[in-house]
Amino acid sequence: MMEIKFIICNDYDEMSHRAAEIFAAQIKENPESVLGLATGSTPVGMYSELASMGLDFSRIKSVNLDEYYPISPKNENSYRYFMNENLFSKVNININNTYVPNGEAADAEKECREYDALIDRLGGIDLQVLGIGPNGHIGFNEPDTELFAGTHVTSLTLSTVEANSRFFSSVDEVPKKAITMGMSSILSAKKIVLLISGKNKHAALKALLDDKITPAVPATFLKLHRDVTVICDKAAYEG
Ligand code: PGA
Repeated sequence: MMEIKFIICNDYDEMSHRAAEIFAAQIKENPESVLGLATGSTPVGMYSELASMGLDFSRIKSVNLDEYYPISPKNENSYRYFMNENLFSKVNININNTYVPNGEAADAEKECREYDALIDRLGGIDLQVLGIGPNGHIGFNEPDTELFAGTHVTSLTLSTVEANSRFFSSVDEVPKKAITMGMSSILSAKKIVLLISGKNKHAALKALLDDKITPAVPATFLKLHRDVTVICDKAAYEG
């Protein structure tokens, strides 16, 4: 039985610190690592800490989990913009080595195929950071009766549109679709760190504690992986 390892932290800052330490160790051990990155409010603290550690990102490559579709990279709510703001502009990474699905691709299906080919060409992801939705989504792999293996275009659930509307001026402005890595791309990462913070994520966290796997809670598929560490705060763990 492969068990998910849990690190329970006192608060958000401790969670961010523990996660940054894992990323820093990866970057030092292999300065050419391919990092799988995520957006959302959860990893912001980790990125800020990583940016202050004086690490050498010059040969690091990164691939992000997802992007709204359609959206311009200049839109402040795009995930490309988020990554530039929160990490890429603060470290010496070569921006040409940072990949986020193209929210402006004319042919979204082609973009998905090319994104999978890109991940393969990079040799796969060495270390992937994930957030989780209150509904158990990872990336934009939303609860459903079936999940997709590869990168695909997906419709956001109403609950995700509502959850993400806090960043937009109104719910109507939230793009209703996204391009997201699929379950296989995520589960192919050599190591995975899942960050969970806040009481509203307790139900999603609880679904990781037993032995069941269900597409109704996509994150439960992480139980199939050999090297997943959940770093959570007490609020998420205790509910
Ligand atoms: P959050 O989003 O970090 O903003 O809570 C996580 C997610 O929905 O995957």
